[in-house]
Amino acid sequence: MNYKLGNSLSTVQKIKRDNEQKFQQILTDSITNGSFVRLVLGKYQGTEPLLRLEISPLLLKEQLQLRFLSEYTTNHITKNFSVSAGIDQLKHLMTDSFKQAHLFTTKQQCQLSISKKGKYLLHCQRTEQTQATPLLSEHNRQKQRYVEQSRPFLTALGVTDQQGQIIPAMSNKWKQINKFIEILQAAVKETELLSAQQLHVADFGSGKAYLTFAMHDYFCHTLGLDAQITGVELRQNLVNLCNDTAKAIQLKGLQFEQGDVKHFKAKGINVMVALHACDVATDYAIHMGIRTGAEIIMCSPCCHKEIRPQISLPVVMAPMLKHGIHLGQEAEMVTDSLRALLLEAHGYQTKVFEFISLEHTSKNKMILAIKRKTARDNSAVLKQIAAIKQFYGIDQHCLEQLLQAESTE
Ligand SMILES: C[S@@+](CC[C@H](N)C(=O)[O-])C[C@H]1O[C@@H](n2cnc3c(N)ncnc32)[C@H](O)[C@@H]1O
Repeated sequence: MNYKLGNSLSTVQKIKRDNEQKFQQILTDSITNGSFVRLVLGKYQGTEPLLRLEISPLLLKEQLQLRFLSEYTTNHITKNFSVSAGIDQLKHLMTDSFKQAHLFTTKQQCQLSISKKGKYLLHCQRTEQTQATPLLSEHNRQKQRYVEQSRPFLTALGVTDQQGQIIPAMSNKWKQINKFIEILQAAVKETELLSAQQLHVADFGSGKAYLTFAMHDYFCHTLGLDAQITGVELRQNLVNLCNDTAKAIQLKGLQFEQGDVKHFKAKGINVMVALHACDVATDYAIHMGIRTGAEIIMCSPCCHKEIRPQISLPVVMAPMLKHGIHLGQEAEMVTDSLRALLLEAHGYQTKVFEFISLEHTSKNKMILAIKRKTARDNSAVLKQIAAIKQFYGIDQHCLEQLLQAESTE
């Protein structure tokens, strides 16, 4: 860890730093009186590819320590300090290297941030949590989470209760949210988006928007980016519900619009997401992502209806595919393989892999496409697409038609 230390201060700066001193005092008191839960430093100002630094208490060989977890764009580094050494480190680190500090204690949450004009803003709020959070032991710190369990959006969506505990019925959703952010985080690191001035994210078929809120939290809170997240959803009642929730917890840069992905006009999307959008809605969303030049396209397709009736069985496969379940699986594989290949042909590096299965659904596949920095000859991929279509007797593939229609416009 190589962080910048503070320089000598002018009188004006000293006055501005009253809030910093107050914050330091609250932090030190919480560590010494055992109410400290976590400190997150964000908006790093230095030259390293550091996203955030999280400090939490840790019990090591029955000794209280402070664990410093530095999250870099490509890796994480952990260092443990004794309490006094850790407090000492923090005095130097805060606000000289980071522009934002968020402290969680069992009694209150305090946020210290430095505005663009250099003002130190301190905002503290009492929390209802009265129980001390169990200390991390060496054993349970292995469980890495990509979303902070204490984030207000999780309570607003009914994933956590008022004490920040996961509601048992929502534990699968909680796993899915974390898996999704884990995948998104890895994808973002492969792009230049971390240094983008402004970021536009579109989520088509956002539904109840657990993952839309999680993306907003990841881009705006965890990464501290200036991001606009738009959920597009067919059903007006869900749009209203999600807008009301975002407003209730005062989230900026998150909005929901009623619309059909088939007719939605968008431009300048950096991250296009469509999770479990039904049937060809996924094709329209991918097409939108390609057309707007999105750096990342993520979709988890479902309801593959288009290809199945078109498949004409090669004789040797007839005994296998006479079973409806096998024909459905084959149609799904062919549909998504063609989608992945079409993305490859349009300048994306594409992976298809297991996402996460929820209790009542088998919709557990993810197509992840990241825009290549340099164009490649796509003639070999186009030949592969043509050969697969011919083999299965397929005339019509929605995404291919959308892309062809565009090239002849
Ligand atoms: C299965 S839900 C998925 C919700 C969310 N993306 C998730 O993964 O948790 C699919 C959502 O897509 C919406 N939807 C289906 N077709 C759509 C279309 N053509 N345009 C916009 N939304 C659509 C549905 O109303 C539904 O809310």
